Amino acid sequence: MMSVIPVSKHSSNKVFLNTLKGNNSDAIPLWLMRQAGRYLPEYREIRKNAGSFLNLCYTPEFATEVTLQPIRRFGFDAAILFSDILVVPDALGCKVSFTEGEGPRLETITDESALSHLSLDNFLKHLSPVFQTVQNLAQELPKQTALIGFAGSPWTVATYMVEGKTSKQFEKIRHLSYASPDFFHKLIRLLVDATSLYLKEQIKHGAEVVQLFDSWSGVLPEIPFKQWVIEPTKHIVANIKAAYPDVPIIGFPKGAGINLLKYINETGVDAVGIDYTLPLEWVRDSVQTHLPVQGNLDPVLLAADKTAMKQQVEKILATFGNKPFIFNLGHGILPHTPIEHVELLVETVRNWKR
Ligand code: CP3
Repeated sequence: MMSVIPVSKHSSNKVFLNTLKGNNSDAIPLWLMRQAGRYLPEYREIRKNAGSFLNLCYTPEFATEVTLQPIRRFGFDAAILFSDILVVPDALGCKVSFTEGEGPRLETITDESALSHLSLDNFLKHLSPVFQTVQNLAQELPKQTALIGFAGSPWTVATYMVEGKTSKQFEKIRHLSYASPDFFHKLIRLLVDATSLYLKEQIKHGAEVVQLFDSWSGVLPEIPFKQWVIEPTKHIVANIKAAYPDVPIIGFPKGAGINLLKYINETGVDAVGIDYTLPLEWVRDSVQTHLPVQGNLDPVLLAADKTAMKQQVEKILATFGNKPFIFNLGHGILPHTPIEHVELLVETVRNWKR
């Protein structure tokens, strides 16, 4: 009888996982933030059938399908669970809706009374369709493709809960954090607990890596950055590591600038996402010396100009390619990005030789 060699779900023959563990392999792993989305006609089709955006996130058949779409089309080394960072406030009882062309709208949480209506009691149950999606993906993904789970970081999620929508200046939340630090701390603490539970449950259902998106960490001065970005992230990392010490955690504190050095020293993340503003050589000499980095092509350049984009991709590869490095964008892909630009990006990364 022929024996079957079991393929471990956490097997290191996945180049993305191998790189996150600090090893170099022949190929540079590649995926793109927001790789499932409106730039793909097959996404727009499912999106139409799903009705509301949240219904897409909460219907495992739809969410599984749209997660797989960019893997089929481009053969990325990692799939990222299709969901949104705002399902966390939604599951805590803070009403969330998405309106076409307007982005998210949330019930605002700016005082103790509003906060007292939020709770963890029904939290994991509310999110059970997301865990079902993770479980489907763990079964359906090609064996060389890693599965990334994710959440927003407490600060970034709190910006939506306090401002009620995507903010430009983040004045309301910064004011509240200075004027009512005790209240604000309670809100952040709730988000630390919720996010830790949420990510552990994703891992339990098959996520092999998790990424924390801190899209708006860059609006904070040094001391609040430590209080509201580093400290909560550190707690989440510790909570996850206590249960799953071997699951890599990628932090993405967008806009952190030089605060990134404290972030990598103090939070305990295993790798960092690099946004498109950071100077490549500074990152190579001051960050990549400590841990694997992931990034950092400007998504606007990807959408705008094929020739200049290819040159920048090659520059990024030449700068980071000799140490553990994951190719990605420096923020999410934009809806108007031409697919042929993405095809050229993929070809350029695949053809690169160390
Ligand atoms: O990366 C992926 O393919 C997985 C899915 C994913 C989505 N959102 C799907 C989505 C991920 C990882 C996110 C993260 C997310 N969501 C972040 C952090 C990353 C970042 O971009 O900064 C943030 C800040 C959000 C909150 C959010 N969700 C906003 C502000 C919006 C509206 C603006 C927009 O891009 O349309 C969303 C909606 C959203 N999330 C869409 C998708 C594909 C588009 C909605 C639609 O299809 O109608």
